[in-house]
Parts: sequence; structure tokens; C-alpha cells
Amino acid sequence: MITEIQIAPSILNADLADLRSAVENVATADWLHLDIMDGHFVPNLSFGPAVAKALKAHSRLPFEAHLMVTNPEFYIEPFRQAGAARMIAHAESTVHLHRLVQMIKASGLEAGVALNPATPLNTVDLVLPDLKIVLLMTVNPGFGGQSLIPGVLAKIRELRHKIATAGFDCRIGVDGGIKRETAKEVIAAGADFLVVGTYLFKNKEDPARVIADLKQLGNG
Ligand code: DX5
Ligand code: ZN
Repeated sequence: MITEIQIAPSILNADLADLRSAVENVATADWLHLDIMDGHFVPNLSFGPAVAKALKAHSRLPFEAHLMVTNPEFYIEPFRQAGAARMIAHAESTVHLHRLVQMIKASGLEAGVALNPATPLNTVDLVLPDLKIVLLMTVNPGFGGQSLIPGVLAKIRELRHKIATAGFDCRIGVDGGIKRETAKEVIAAGADFLVVGTYLFKNKEDPARVIADLKQLGNG
């Protein structure tokens, strides 16, 4: 099967004192993945719309905001104004997932939903026709550099089956612990969108080569 794999660098584990170089070095990727953490939904803080806006001036990639925050609806407009093209909100962060997805779409942005490892896949069933991506967390969110939780592979397979059966135009993203070996596993299970942090930014290899190598894994 030939699948076009998309790569979205997560700058969380890049050199935070030199984010400009980090985004410039991954210009051959498909998306830039911004991990937005509020210290409530996840036990960590990262960055906000001002940082996204500053980086947008140095990248031609579309930006996606992975909202690991409570009250995600408060952040749609600020990140839209900062230049993001897609919002990925956590299903666990709202009791009104359908409303949240409609709000994102009404803002003219692509909508995505992220699921924590222990969240059942059927949580997204109702909104699946509205989504451009389901981001299956392959680690518990909050920190870069963790190991992939193998139990999520079955979830990827099940989602691939659901999307193929219904014929939806929706990517299956994975986020956390992606390196060459785990990339092969998640791609074999049906993922076609890889968020990559540590493996890209704490690697001696040139990021462009790492990106090209990961993308060609879909050709197998
Ligand atoms: C985890 C974040 C990820 C993460 C990916 O909370 O959503 O995007 O930083 O980083 P690695 O590839 O280091 O696991
Ligand atoms: Zn992320």
C-alpha cells in the first residue's frame, strides 16, 4: 500500500532558546505542531499565541495548535489570529465535543480531536465526519521524550477500519514516542500523520533527512 505520510514536528523538545532555527530547519515537513499546555489539563506549561505568531513569520508550513488546555474554546480565536490553520482539541477537555468542533469549523479552521491513550475510540464517532484528523495520543500528554504505549496500536487499527469503511477524508495522527522503529509500527497499523519531537530535535542527523526517511516508510 502506498500512503503519503505527513510529518508534523513538535517544537516542545527543540532548543527553546533558538526556536527560529528549529522551525527553519524543518521546512520540508508538512505541518508545524504546537503543543499548548496550561498547567491544568496537563501538568506542564508551554507557550501561547504570541510565540506561535512570532514563529509564523519564519515558516511557510501550516501551523496546528494541539490544545492541551481546559476551556479550549477560549483559545480558538487567539490561535487563529496568530496564524494557525488547524485546532486539535482534546475530547477529555470538554463535555460538549460536538459544539467545540463546530466552533472550530465556524472560525474557518480545520478541526481535529485528540484522544488520550485511555479514552475510548468511540468518543469521536459523532464528530468524525467533521474532522480532518484524529490525533491518537501514544503517550500521556504533558511532556516530550516519553515511550510509546503499545496498547494504542489496536486503537489505530480500529480507527483505520472505521475511516476506510465510511470513506471519510480524515487523517490518523499519532503523537508521542515516535522514532524510526515505532513509526514503522504505527504506519503498519494505519497511521498516516506523525507528530515527531525528540527524535527530530535531539538527533545528530539533519532534520530534513530524518523527515525524508520517515516519510518514505509509507512506501513499504
Ligand atoms: C506530548 C505532546 C507531544 C510530544 C511529542 O504531550 O503532545 O507533541 O511533545 O514529543 P516526542 O516525540 O518527544 O514524544
Ligand atoms: Zn502534541
